[in-house]
Amino acid sequence: MKKWYAVIGDPIGQSMSPSMHDEWFEKNELAATYIPIHVNEEKLEKAVHSLKCLGCSGWNVTVPHKSSIIQYLDEIDPFAKQMNAVNTVEVLPNGLLRGSNTDGLGFVRSLEELYGERCKGSEVLIIGAGGAARGISYALHKAGYGPITFTNRTLEKALNLCNEIPKAKALEIAEAERSLSTYRLIIQTTSVGMNFAQKGVPLNLGNIASGSVVADIIYNPLKTEFLSEAEKRGASLLNGTGMFVHQGALAFEKWTGIRPNTKEMNEKITDTLGGTYVNR
Ligand code: ATR
Repeated sequence: MKKWYAVIGDPIGQSMSPSMHDEWFEKNELAATYIPIHVNEEKLEKAVHSLKCLGCSGWNVTVPHKSSIIQYLDEIDPFAKQMNAVNTVEVLPNGLLRGSNTDGLGFVRSLEELYGERCKGSEVLIIGAGGAARGISYALHKAGYGPITFTNRTLEKALNLCNEIPKAKALEIAEAERSLSTYRLIIQTTSVGMNFAQKGVPLNLGNIASGSVVADIIYNPLKTEFLSEAEKRGASLLNGTGMFVHQGALAFEKWTGIRPNTKEMNEKITDTLGGTYVNR
């Protein structure tokens, strides 16, 4: 019988996960499909129960359910527990539901796919101190990157994150701008620049060192104003398509045991979103 997988969230209409997973199922000759399901906050518990009853083999979880779903799952992997956020659910052979989080490791994989370990052993600056910054910083630290500095519009949140990551520190945006040449890897995790809705850049890149890698986790638009500024200053770029593809690939691997082709998918998603391949 054909297996089926899903992504639940609110909103869910714009998700690119269904076409990505369906293509991987087809390429790997697996009889399976992946569907988007709109689930609002009040219906979450019933939705989890229904997915299980209706034989869903596994699903992704997106905004706003990444934390609230935890209470309805049977096991949470240690990384997702630390994050207090789940983006992937596996239905185990005994029927129990296990939650994990592939977002942070997805970023690390996308970085290394393009730049190898070039940024290891040098200081990392993370702009933003929300859920995305948290997941990425944990995964980077676990993979041996750092020390990590957080900078954020609200300094207090950056200071709170410092208590979670060994050797991390927090700086005001203006201070981070002044000391920018210290960092060989700079990662933009705020929503500034997303969908052209929040114009501008969260930090001025005037003092960047040449040869730095500048990443933005946003992928729509493919090249944010922040990445354009970095490009003008000769930085190597990484946009958010890779993180999106790799978080999905890690979920796919948990469900099927197969590592799908991420490079090909990254190119396809880039084409779908307008075709300017910005990473180099
Ligand atoms: P996510 O899960 O995507 O990280 P989040 O937890 O809501 O989302 O965090 C959003 C991040 O974007 C925060 O660091 C936020 O800064 P504050 O902590 O000061 O709110 C940052 N952010 C959002 N809009 C911003 C803006 N207009 N300028 C600067 N930072 C912004």
